[in-house]
Amino acid sequence: MCGIVGYVGADTALPVLTTGLENLEYRGYDSAGVALADGDVEVYKTAGEVDALEATLPETAEAHRGVGHTRWSTHGPPTDTNAHPHTDCTGEVAVVHNGIIDNYDALRRDLVAEGHDFESDTDTEVVPHLIESYLEDGLAPQAAIEETVARLEGSFALVVTIAGVPELFAIRRDSPLVLGHGVEATYLASDVTAFLEHTREVTYLPDDHLAVLDGAETTVYHDGQPVALDRETLEWEADAAEKGGYEHYMRKEIHEQPQALRQTISGRIDVDAGTVELGLDLSEEYLRSLEEIQIVAAGTSNYAGRYAAKLLEELADVRTTVSIASEYAFTGGRDPWRTLVIAVTQSGETADTLSAVRDAKRAGARTIAVTNTLGSTVTREVEESLFIRAGPEIGVAATKTFASQVTTLALLAVAIGREREALSTDRAVDVLEAIRSVPGAVQQVLDREPQVIEVATRHADADAFFFIGRALGEPVALEGALKLKEISYDHAEGFAAGELKHGPLALVTDQTPVLAILTPGSRPEETLRNVKEVGAREAPVIGATTRPDDARYLQERLDVPDVDVLSPMVTNVYWQLFAYHVADAKGRPIDKPRNLAKSVTVE
Ligand code: AGP
Ligand code: GLU
Repeated sequence: MCGIVGYVGADTALPVLTTGLENLEYRGYDSAGVALADGDVEVYKTAGEVDALEATLPETAEAHRGVGHTRWSTHGPPTDTNAHPHTDCTGEVAVVHNGIIDNYDALRRDLVAEGHDFESDTDTEVVPHLIESYLEDGLAPQAAIEETVARLEGSFALVVTIAGVPELFAIRRDSPLVLGHGVEATYLASDVTAFLEHTREVTYLPDDHLAVLDGAETTVYHDGQPVALDRETLEWEADAAEKGGYEHYMRKEIHEQPQALRQTISGRIDVDAGTVELGLDLSEEYLRSLEEIQIVAAGTSNYAGRYAAKLLEELADVRTTVSIASEYAFTGGRDPWRTLVIAVTQSGETADTLSAVRDAKRAGARTIAVTNTLGSTVTREVEESLFIRAGPEIGVAATKTFASQVTTLALLAVAIGREREALSTDRAVDVLEAIRSVPGAVQQVLDREPQVIEVATRHADADAFFFIGRALGEPVALEGALKLKEISYDHAEGFAAGELKHGPLALVTDQTPVLAILTPGSRPEETLRNVKEVGAREAPVIGATTRPDDARYLQERLDVPDVDVLSPMVTNVYWQLFAYHVADAKGRPIDKPRNLAKSVTVE
């Protein structure tokens, strides 16, 4: 996930690129760069925000063609060298990229063997070198780019500029790119915010289509043939555009989950073989000798950790404890050599979690981080980092990062289970098939948002809300309640369903909706007993279920696709939408709830 902006036209490119990057900075912010093409290609790039880049740029530049990039690293830390654009050996081909090239490792090995020199740690750099080698073979620029793209696996939006070639080239697969049509110019960007002040006439580039921009002349090709695409006129204001037309980042990020999850999984699983490759340096011998995994995390990440702990115990047969980071201490006579501590933190900056990691390190335990943020503090503290690749999350309420954390940790549980021979190939194949179908399952839930809006509006004025679930549904109940209280300011609590009758049942009335999880992985038969208990106290029960027959015990049935042990995680998408729409009905400041901050950097 990053921001791309490009320009070819009658004006000079530099001012268009810098304001475009400023408008896109919310998409990624760890490094930035531009390539200006005016005969030669000149590249300026630096770690840090767009401000830092602007300090390195000339005041003016003659070039009428160029691209800019604000990076959100997935491969290689945010350094000057890893910033985009990336170039080939001659410096004549410059490329910016949003996404992940899954097969970059093999491509890079081949290119190095052919004599290409690489400068960065990124997956992106294979692209300019591939283009270079096709140009050397005598292919024309467009053909060289088409041949290059045919060799790429993964998700990408790529923009290419080549010295001495007047056009700008852009192609995408699974990462966004939109063209903007000006009077004597064509703009392109990851989203329209980058150029909305110049034009509202746009064309969304479909997957695997190549746009060739030459001033106001833009031709789009598919399979080598020119195609005609419809233009749209946008009515959006700049602020709405930044949020993709959504009123809040939270809702946008909820809807980004299928794409975020595809990135999380991309290139990491071989479903037929039942194997997972996460690139972690943890030997089979070490994993077999493990006695305990300790997960440390705060808030939503802690609930993702609780979910993962159950998966690690089930799939990898390793005792797993979860600590709230601020409560953690490495005690109790554990052998640090046989204890793996996993810090789960989307920001990588949570002070409580960092402090727990330091405590574990002092005790001599091995530490790994599961995080969304390359180059964050936690990645410098731990031995190994595993990235969830959800893309930047702006809303204070964690949404897509929870889904990507759970999914990444599920992959880790399969990987460790296989190494420890605790997981059969057949079961691994089942779980990986479920993981592969999670993005589609989440999309099915998102498609039912109108039903959630109706339910949330109907119950927005309730006295309190209770979320219940068992097994893998228990952390999802806790997370559902956290999300609701955080953004709606309503009283909400999550319980292990069996605990209701040990106290909280006293709070249940006809004014307290109960939201229950009745899916695979959450022991639905048993939870149904609790549903009946609260139903008998006239509480309205909203049940998320894979089983149509449950409807007779529910005031409202929310259908969940069956994705094995990931079904409760998919259910959580309903709870996110519910929280969002209750808060929206109350007019709360959803992206910035009172008293809270996105990264909590104090203990
Ligand atoms: C969740 O919506 C909150 N924003 C909060 O609980 C958050 O998950 C917690 O502060 C941990 O943050 P981290 O994942 O960045 O470490
Ligand atoms: N995978 C590329 C990198 O790490 C692109 C990341 C992005 O989308 O900003 O540099």
